Amino acid sequence: MGRVQVRMEAALARLLPQAQVAPARLHAAMRYATLEGGKRVRPLLAFAAGDVAGAAAERLEIAAAAVELIHAYSLVHDDLPCMDNDVLRRGKPTAHVEFGEATALLAGDALQSLAFQLLAEHRLADDPHAQLEMVRTLATVAGSRGMVGGQQIDLEATGTALSVPALEFMHIHKTGALIRAAVALGAACGTLQEAERRSLDRYAKAVGLAFQVVDDILDYDASTATLGKTAGKDAKQGKPTYVSAMGIIRAREMAESLRAQALAAVQALGSRAGRLVSLADFIVLRKF
Ligand code: IPE
Ligand code: IPE
Ligand code: MG
Ligand code: MG
Ligand code: MG
Repeated sequence: MGRVQVRMEAALARLLPQAQVAPARLHAAMRYATLEGGKRVRPLLAFAAGDVAGAAAERLEIAAAAVELIHAYSLVHDDLPCMDNDVLRRGKPTAHVEFGEATALLAGDALQSLAFQLLAEHRLADDPHAQLEMVRTLATVAGSRGMVGGQQIDLEATGTALSVPALEFMHIHKTGALIRAAVALGAACGTLQEAERRSLDRYAKAVGLAFQVVDDILDYDASTATLGKTAGKDAKQGKPTYVSAMGIIRAREMAESLRAQALAAVQALGSRAGRLVSLADFIVLRKF
């Protein structure tokens, strides 16, 4: 994990516009929101899926960066006063606190564009149609039928109670979809049998939902210091979460059962899926 994290930090620093390039303040905000401090779970998943598919690290680095840029943009916008109104992210002031709301908004917009630019300007698959499919996948999961749709549901649900199926629908959109795409894009940088691709997708669906269930749990029971973001905010803001819907004990059981589902999905792949197994463990057992 450490090796991929270091590689990704360098790749993102290289692929983002330099801070002195005009408009310097916008580029500084994009770099501020992306570099230093993220766990890089989505890149780690892309690399682990790429491992199974025999993909080259040079390709994985670009696909993983594209996904991570979408993620970074989503956090900038998620933290805005009109959304979750958060002041702390990755142990630092949020982008709008540091740069002002308007620059943060634009930095998010530009991070999203840069993600697609990367997918278009580097060769990631031997077949151009396969590469176009990667662009389509990222566009779909990031959009109104994916992450942004999930965020809309989150806004509309704030202050209400959701049933567990409705909560699952929200979580698989706002968080699960991009995680699923991280695995799909990593795999698409190499080659897989159709049955193997389906196994990876089953794994990704389970860890994608597990990721947000654990995020809900950590908001409830971890500290601001370990999270690097303000703890206890979901209850304060009236966000429906797995903790509010089923209680902390059953939410933990739910995360554990999703981990079991993820591991079962890749069991047939044997040692090739070793890193995917470790990542499912990390996603569910993490403390931050
Ligand atoms: C936080 O994501 C937002 C969610 C989608 C739950 P991460 O926990 O991956 O945030 P970083 O990138 O490590 O800061
Ligand atoms: C964020 O969910 C989901 C996206 C950014 C798409 P949260 O609002 O729970 O994430 P945190 O807790 O602020 O990181
Ligand atoms: Mg939110
Ligand atoms: Mg938030
Ligand atoms: Mg949260």
